[in-house]
Amino acid sequence: MIISGKFFYKNNIFEGCIVVEDGVIVDIRKSVDSNEVVNFPRGLILPAGIDVHVHFRDFEERYKETIESGSLSALHGGICLIVDQPNTKPPIVDDKTYIERIKKAEKTTFIDYSLNLGLTEGNARKISEILSRIEEIANVPAIGEVFLQHRTMQVSYETLKAVRNEIDKLITVHAEDASLIPEESVRPKEAEIVAVRRCIEFGDFYFCHISTPEALEMIHRSKSFAEVTPHHLLLSAGKIEFERVNPPLRSENDRIELLKNFSKADVIASDHAPHTIEDKREGAPGFPGVETIYPLMLNLVRKRVISLRDLVERIVVNPAKIFGFKGYSGIEIGNYANFAMFDLSDVRKIKAEDLHSKAGWTPYEGFDAIFPKTVFIRGIKALEDGEVLVDRGFGHICMTKTRMT
Ligand code: NCD
Repeated sequence: MIISGKFFYKNNIFEGCIVVEDGVIVDIRKSVDSNEVVNFPRGLILPAGIDVHVHFRDFEERYKETIESGSLSALHGGICLIVDQPNTKPPIVDDKTYIERIKKAEKTTFIDYSLNLGLTEGNARKISEILSRIEEIANVPAIGEVFLQHRTMQVSYETLKAVRNEIDKLITVHAEDASLIPEESVRPKEAEIVAVRRCIEFGDFYFCHISTPEALEMIHRSKSFAEVTPHHLLLSAGKIEFERVNPPLRSENDRIELLKNFSKADVIASDHAPHTIEDKREGAPGFPGVETIYPLMLNLVRKRVISLRDLVERIVVNPAKIFGFKGYSGIEIGNYANFAMFDLSDVRKIKAEDLHSKAGWTPYEGFDAIFPKTVFIRGIKALEDGEVLVDRGFGHICMTKTRMT
């Protein structure tokens, strides 16, 4: 297959041809002498996105989301690979549950899938053993998201430090200090700032969903990595219904400051945390977001709030490098042909009824966004004009050493 058009290549927009064989980019050049060229004259071809922080629920919380519905939602938003989080019911804290989850994903995911391994006080002493048993079959991208405050999965600084010293793997941390959270619903900025400060004193980490400019600056000056989310960049406290999320939305000033410093973050991820409206009414924290992350951020590129290069680095290149996803780091010879094709002039208002998560609502109702027209995953056209062209189970378990089934 040969695709021609304008695409993002080596930090610039390049007009030419991408030659794909067996799902992999084998050549990139100005022109090709062939009649079999697929032409995208109007749009911009970007690498499909990676969302390294999603909660696809399933298991006992199928009513909120499943791997199938979450991955379908991701595909509609131009995402080709996700990292699922282990705070499921039951949680993924042992090899048996991990493998069970991977097998389920292999049968049901629309896009490529990978899964973190959870850390708790209960499994910390055996974490190396559990990891090596899983890694006989599948590669674990990271330990995490590790909670420093959580009803059932809370880990102390001491345990986190011991695990940091013991293993070499990436550890992703939800940094909010439990002692500074007086009650579940009150989570001051200090809780994040103090937790980040304490962690970087004893190790290098990947910090999830950083919400304060102060913590972002600290991480930027360290060897650790910072993830930011669209909700902390676009929404502020006291403005929307069902605003509860961990860490919370901050003041408008903090939001603006965080957005100004977008280039200091290493990764943007959605923290897709789907809850039904009924659960939100009862106070469940979290927002759906895997389908809207790329479309919302691309609209910020259109409005020249952020640069295309800063976005592609944080939604494709850096996640691939930091998590070790070989072949996923963008449009380059040797990488998978994972493309999301956008028409930048087709700006649409986000409407919950158009989205595909089981959550059934969005905090971005009415926001401008640019959704992909076409998505290719490993050289296969998976979505075009809203129509899904692949079946459940099309996605691969990323970096799987052996097929599961
Ligand atoms: C997360 C969820 O619902 O899984 N919610 C959220 O607000 N980010 C869990 C969490 O990080 O507390």
